[in-house]
Amino acid sequence: MKKPLIMDCDPGRDDAIALMMLGKDENYELLGITTVAGNHTVSHTFNNAQRLSAWLGIEAPVFRGCERPLLRAPVIAPEIHGDTGLDGFDEQCMPKHQETEHAVNWLVKTLLAATEPVTLLVTGPMTNIAMALRLAPTVLSHIDRIVLMGGSMTLGNVTPAAEFNMYADPEAAKIVFTSGADLYMAGLDVTLKALCDAETITRMSAHKNPAAKLFHDLMIPYCEAENRAYGMPKAPVHDPVAVAILQQPDLITFREMNVTIDTSTQEGYGRTYCDYYNTTGLKPNCHVAVNLNTEGFWNLIEHQIQKYN
Ligand code: RIB
Ligand code: CA
Repeated sequence: MKKPLIMDCDPGRDDAIALMMLGKDENYELLGITTVAGNHTVSHTFNNAQRLSAWLGIEAPVFRGCERPLLRAPVIAPEIHGDTGLDGFDEQCMPKHQETEHAVNWLVKTLLAATEPVTLLVTGPMTNIAMALRLAPTVLSHIDRIVLMGGSMTLGNVTPAAEFNMYADPEAAKIVFTSGADLYMAGLDVTLKALCDAETITRMSAHKNPAAKLFHDLMIPYCEAENRAYGMPKAPVHDPVAVAILQQPDLITFREMNVTIDTSTQEGYGRTYCDYYNTTGLKPNCHVAVNLNTEGFWNLIEHQIQKYN
């Protein structure tokens, strides 16, 4: 029996690889894809998610979510993901039907109607999830767990302190991290180990199918963009690590700890304070990923690509 899953994302080049991994998953039923402003405006992320689902033959409906963060000014990342948010993937294929219901309304309706608890995979800013929790707090009892890419026990990637998904909507993240939901966090501590380079691209492209072409067409400019931005010869594919938590959890080592979100300081705005040594005595609220089996991770990516043959 497949487990119900909803993906909330901001495609985004690495979100695209994460979605590809789910497209042929035998264990999860993807009920829907909700999109949010993050890597680019929600107009772009919505359009990108529709084009990706059509290209990959994913029949899950795609919904347009919140236009902007709850409080702060919007931030986008065209320097990493390009002017469309998905530069490199130019296919203009679209689903047969375009959804017009707002993603948050659909999330609430779907969760409340679910006959079993639903897993949420969140690979962008948490605006939609926070809004759903505020609009209908009883959705919490319909959420099995929230598996998210975001945060960091140490350095940030968009400020010295904050990772992008958290920084893009810290107030939303605080709502989610104080909700009581069962959280699994793939932060930069593990995603910076998932490094894609030219050899990886050659390996994955060899499969000559829609997923392999997607990987090739997106990861070449992604590696270039990451190198320009961070001086890194290899590019961290962040969001697929969150999918690995769903598909092969033994690739990841977790440590339960209390995680709080900085919404009040200037330098630390968006930072995830991860109480690794339990110095605060606060009850752990998150399973934080602290290590990744990188060889197994890339084997998992290749295994998912091969399913599109
Ligand atoms: O910090 C990396 C995260 O921010 C990834 O989810 C990437 O897609 C961007 O959303
Ligand atoms: Ca993302």
